[in-house]
Amino acid sequence: MCGIFGYVGERVELGSAVLRALKTLEYRGYDSWGVAIGVNGHIGVEKRTGKIAGSTVSFPPSDIGFGHTRWATHGGVTQPNAHPHLDCTGQLAIIHNGIVENFRPLRDELLARGHRFASETDSEVVAHLLEERVAEHDGDLLAALGATFPRLEGLNAIIAFDLRRRELVAAKSVSPLVVGVGSTGTSIASDALALRGHADRVVYLEDHHLVRLRAGGVTLYDRRSMAEIPPDFLPLDVAAGDPDLGAYPHFMAKEMAEQPDVLDRLVSDGEPAIRAFAGAIADSYGTFLVGCGTASYAALSGAYLFSRIAARHLNFVAGSEFKYHEHFLNPESLVVALSQSGETVDVIEAMMAARRHGARLGAIVNVRNSTLDRMVDLRVHLNAGPEQCVLSTKAYTAKVAALLLAAHALKGDYGTGADLVRAAARGMREMLAGDWASRVQEVAETIHRAEHLFVIGRGLAYPTALEAALKIKEVSYIHAEGFAGGELKHGVIALVAPGTPCVVYAPNDETRGDILSGAMELRSRGGYIIGVGPENDPVFDVHLPTPDVGDAAPLVNALPAQMLGYQAALLRGNDPDKPRNLAKSVTVK
Ligand code: F6R
Repeated sequence: MCGIFGYVGERVELGSAVLRALKTLEYRGYDSWGVAIGVNGHIGVEKRTGKIAGSTVSFPPSDIGFGHTRWATHGGVTQPNAHPHLDCTGQLAIIHNGIVENFRPLRDELLARGHRFASETDSEVVAHLLEERVAEHDGDLLAALGATFPRLEGLNAIIAFDLRRRELVAAKSVSPLVVGVGSTGTSIASDALALRGHADRVVYLEDHHLVRLRAGGVTLYDRRSMAEIPPDFLPLDVAAGDPDLGAYPHFMAKEMAEQPDVLDRLVSDGEPAIRAFAGAIADSYGTFLVGCGTASYAALSGAYLFSRIAARHLNFVAGSEFKYHEHFLNPESLVVALSQSGETVDVIEAMMAARRHGARLGAIVNVRNSTLDRMVDLRVHLNAGPEQCVLSTKAYTAKVAALLLAAHALKGDYGTGADLVRAAARGMREMLAGDWASRVQEVAETIHRAEHLFVIGRGLAYPTALEAALKIKEVSYIHAEGFAGGELKHGVIALVAPGTPCVVYAPNDETRGDILSGAMELRSRGGYIIGVGPENDPVFDVHLPTPDVGDAAPLVNALPAQMLGYQAALLRGNDPDKPRNLAKSVTVK
């Protein structure tokens, strides 16, 4: 979940270039950051806790170095625990993403041999292990990393920096690394986005690779045989769409506003891939939709959509739970992962398990060339553009739209799906353009001090309720829970006290009557009812209207919760783009 970037070449202002690259990676972790650069025969290190924004640092000129943004796993958020970590000699530095699962015995071993540790992290063992191996391998850092990496248990990406040989070396297991080559030097990062301005060609590292970066170029080796491998370069292709904030105050606001265009683009550009995906579902004997967090709710929406539109049962499994369903897989199964980043470790592990069982692999993914994108047999690219707010908004609605379109394609009626998604896009545009947002603002002002909030929906609106609650809680820190409307009386209602905000999804479908009865029961206990749907009802204390777009309701229904969470977060003084404790792209378990 950490962001890593390294460079060796001609850059003189390297320290600030590393810091700029780290800013684009901060969505991966923003507890603390650090930079190490080669300066006059030693490694200069700068580390800080907190976010990069607002830090003023001046670095001496340099042409080799790297940096790291941290999402703490082992050891608190402190300056010593921030990366990079040095060996005992101070001549070798490392940055790390992942968890060295066996770090305790390794640390004990190293302490017994006299190494001195400066941090509480699992990562620092790598610096000291390398220090020993470098000595054994005649100063060759690459060979040292080749010998050290197999000793590390877990899913890790490591970059090591050796000032004496003026090189960076790297290895990885599952956790992503991409190497770039440009006119002024070579670079490496955990996300191709950080290579903009440094590289025009890239190579995505595989788990069996070991790589050496020098000012003159990149050399790739097979980690087991140490044989050189010709690198398979691709042009640097970062997601279409503007990665900058423009006139928006936050990426969350920008990405919410981009949703209508993303949906329209998906309908027109995504058709061939979506049809192929529908065909693969038709050919499979058992389809699983897998995703984590918001993506899991998109997957659950897909299960409802396929059932009602195409009369096809799709299995929904949360990524982290997938391994407990492995035994149902066979070569006729189709396993489809939904992921914005394409790097979520639980999803990648699920797909690896599916591959072991011979299942066909599919992905509905936003980031091209991500680990997920590269490992599947068929894919639908969301083309939503870079999603930089930690919260997923536009990638969520794009995933649900892709599933809605695929369900219609399976039924032999892509056109109806396309009309519905376009209608939802139009509706969202109107919501965003009118005074609707100020209406949400009024609701946010009423509820932003609440401790608890509940969201209910039935049928197609049930996964929407789960997603709405997640969106509201992760950005506002109000404890929000989503429930199936019918489950209220089975326990949840005990939590409703006078004034508790309750969001009630009441679309114009077969669920409306029953959900309004549930709303009545909540109101009788003092709940403050925020009704979301095309029509008002006397049971609502306040009504947030949404257009009536039939089975595309999950798309327009996502927006009120996104907006309410965003407004409440601002009222509570939270940073909506980087909420506490979170990081985008969850690459550790
Ligand atoms: C919530 C959110 C997360 C992600 C989840 C999966 O707003 O962003 O719940 O949806 O971590 O991420 P991806 O889609 O990148 O696999």
